[in-house]
Amino acid sequence: MIRLTVMASGGGSNFQAILDKINEKKLNARVGLLISNNGKAGAIDKAKRAGIETLHLAPTAFSTEQDYTKTLLKHLKDKQTELIVLAGYMKRLPDEVIQKYRNRILNIHPALLPAFGGKGMYGHHVHEAVLSYGAKVTGVTVHLVDEEYDHGPIVLQKAVEVMPDDTPDSLAARVLKEEHNSYWQAIKLFSENRVKIQDRKVIIL
Ligand code: GRF
Repeated sequence: MIRLTVMASGGGSNFQAILDKINEKKLNARVGLLISNNGKAGAIDKAKRAGIETLHLAPTAFSTEQDYTKTLLKHLKDKQTELIVLAGYMKRLPDEVIQKYRNRILNIHPALLPAFGGKGMYGHHVHEAVLSYGAKVTGVTVHLVDEEYDHGPIVLQKAVEVMPDDTPDSLAARVLKEEHNSYWQAIKLFSENRVKIQDRKVIIL
């Protein structure tokens, strides 16, 4: 059973989808803590409903990044975190956290990286860019988090077709559904120790 700490800034539908798979006994994992930088995040309500401890930790509430980093690392350690799962988390993690949890931080991106990724590419911005570019296929990427946005080694990707009459909202909804179906599968690989990382390559054993 793998111990997860989930970090979310928004509604938390990816977080909820992971909880559902845990409850369905399809994913052998336990969420020890839900951290949000946004005290009003729907993810916090979802965690409370599931009886999961929550922590409102806003980087902006600290006088220095060092204080914030120290506090975050303490909570991650206290919960014996084995895998950090970013589920719609909008803040950049401090480099020290990325170093300490190298290859043990996952993020989900609503496009097929490296396309339509990087700074500013989140939420509807991604789907608008996909549509205005005229891409025929988009998708979901679950990747390891490193010091650059949307750049770490790719664990899993799923393609999602772009329909001719798609709007950013209709496309977002189709991609989000695939996110809910994909993230838990990537986490499952880690829970089963089936992930081997060689440079940029993620080998699934
Ligand atoms: C989704 O758009 C996802 O692609 C991205 O952030 C959003 C998360 O939504 N990672 P939710 O908070 O999980 O519902």
